[in-house]
Amino acid sequence: MSAAPASPTASPATSPTASTAVQEAFLKAFHAEHPAVTADAFVAGRSPDGRSSYRILSDRVAGARRVLDLGCGDGVLLDLLARTEERRLAGVDLSPEALALARRRPSLRTTALAQARAQRLPFADGAFDACVCHMALMLMGDVDRVAAEIARVLSPGSTLACVVGGGAVGGEAYELFSGLLRAAVERAPAEQRIPPLGDRRTRSREGLGAILEPAGFCAPDRETVPIDLSGPVEQVWAALSGIYDVGPLDPAAVSRLRESFVREAAGLAGPDGRVPCGFTVHVVTARLR
Ligand SMILES: C[S@@+](CC[C@H](N)C(=O)[O-])C[C@H]1O[C@@H](n2cnc3c(N)ncnc32)[C@H](O)[C@@H]1O
Repeated sequence: MSAAPASPTASPATSPTASTAVQEAFLKAFHAEHPAVTADAFVAGRSPDGRSSYRILSDRVAGARRVLDLGCGDGVLLDLLARTEERRLAGVDLSPEALALARRRPSLRTTALAQARAQRLPFADGAFDACVCHMALMLMGDVDRVAAEIARVLSPGSTLACVVGGGAVGGEAYELFSGLLRAAVERAPAEQRIPPLGDRRTRSREGLGAILEPAGFCAPDRETVPIDLSGPVEQVWAALSGIYDVGPLDPAAVSRLRESFVREAAGLAGPDGRVPCGFTVHVVTARLR
């Protein structure tokens, strides 16, 4: 059973930079239309040892009693975390629509779910023993501020465990999709392109260290894990087409992208009709000093 953390207190006010405000406005508008898109794509994905990327994160914080999910979306990871007895859980997200889905989960009825920015967390200092973050840290602007906020709300010795996006497994459907998408975006008018999201430093171990260590974390560990999203072509399309860049494209462009993908992916399918689709993620863990 989960329970709300001790009375939330906000950190001092900080305004987003102009570029971060643009990014967050895009993310809010996108998730208003697609509040569960990440969970829909990743919940069935499996690592070589048979775990989902959500399960990998929940295993990384197995001993923690007070856990915060940063960018919790529709609450799929919190739902897994709530299976541990006597846990106090909290989740924050920019998207009210995603949070509304999280609030509908019976397992989260006592979880503190707040519409808040990771750059300004509405929790007291030292309120948590662990923070998890699935496919969200790499989207966040002002990420040094995010790291400082995570460090503030964790108690010393706590664990931060994040899954950040990696890339394609060569020769499979995600690589095919990425090439077709790139061409579609290049053909599209500027207003159908997404703003640059997040901070490039989250893409490398060194960059993550440069973000996390000044905030008080030990050098982060980063493990690269392939996630298998293979399946019938329509299932793979459904998973991949939830990517942010597809959102602003006009319906005709999306329809052309889908047709090209379905046609070319058929050539990758095995005798069972399944299209191989691998996507690597980086599992990042760091301990607060
Ligand atoms: C790719 S989705 C992942 C959702 C969820 N963690 C999952 O994996 O199913 C990224 C989420 O992070 C949230 N997000 C992005 N930047 C944020 C910020 N600065 N503060 C709070 N939430 C943020 C978005 O609103 C979105 O719900």
